[in-house]
Amino acid sequence: MEISELEQLLSGARSLCVLTGAGVSAESGVPTFRGPDGLWRKYRPEDLATPEAFARNPLLVWEWYAWRREIIGKAQPNPAHHALVELETQMAARPGSRFTLATQNVDGLHERAGSSNVIRLHGSIWVLRCTECGEERWDESVPLDPFPPRCASGDPPCGALMRPGVVWFGESLPPEAWGRAAEAAAAADVFLVIGTSALVQPAAALPLVAKRSGARLVEINADPTPLSDLADLTLTGKAGEILGALRGRMNTQ
Ligand code: APR
Repeated sequence: MEISELEQLLSGARSLCVLTGAGVSAESGVPTFRGPDGLWRKYRPEDLATPEAFARNPLLVWEWYAWRREIIGKAQPNPAHHALVELETQMAARPGSRFTLATQNVDGLHERAGSSNVIRLHGSIWVLRCTECGEERWDESVPLDPFPPRCASGDPPCGALMRPGVVWFGESLPPEAWGRAAEAAAAADVFLVIGTSALVQPAAALPLVAKRSGARLVEINADPTPLSDLADLTLTGKAGEILGALRGRMNTQ
């Protein structure tokens, strides 16, 4: 029933904006942050995901990101990722319509599934940034060598320590990414929020921006969140199963 309601809402959408969180990658084996086995249950974010933590102990922080790169490197996109690729394709075939996918995830699984123009609100675990010259490079090597990574730009090479190209607590989001996401949320007629606890700002404000601008808000999540009461439609369960079922229906139409 809910899936057919979702399907109906999506089939009428002209400006669809999607926000995803760690829950969309959970079925790919990538740990979430605040779930029962969430990373923040085992580790203290202030020790691992802040600029201060990196300044204090860069090796500890890098060892943690190296561990996450290893897990993510082995992970495969799941039916939720694939269904969003299909939705993007379907929207592209609808004249005058638009589709925007913004993610809090740094794992790159949306792109690996085939999504295009993904807005990476919190950066990417595959990007390394020099702490001195700011040079960035895309690097999917697991393990990293040298470890921790050093900047190779310039001649002679800069040689300074590189940091993960992700947004840490206390840091601002990339302005261009935030601007695109906020604009798309305000222009949406349907806003889909998937697999996020909706606790971390400013990303968690995007569904509210959309709702205030008149969009229908749909939440797909394993557990209730602060958005659940605001949503026009809530589908509780695993994103891979729910969006997998939706995709099955989209394909039979
Ligand atoms: N399908 C759908 N939802 C799921 C699934 C699943 N298979 N598994 C877990 N969830 C839900 C959980 O119920 C939870 O509400 O996904 C949500 C994940 O929430 P968090 O772990 O808090 O992750 P997220 O919201 O993405 O965190 C936001 O916080 O730690 C920082 O920068 C980090 O981007 C991250 C941000």
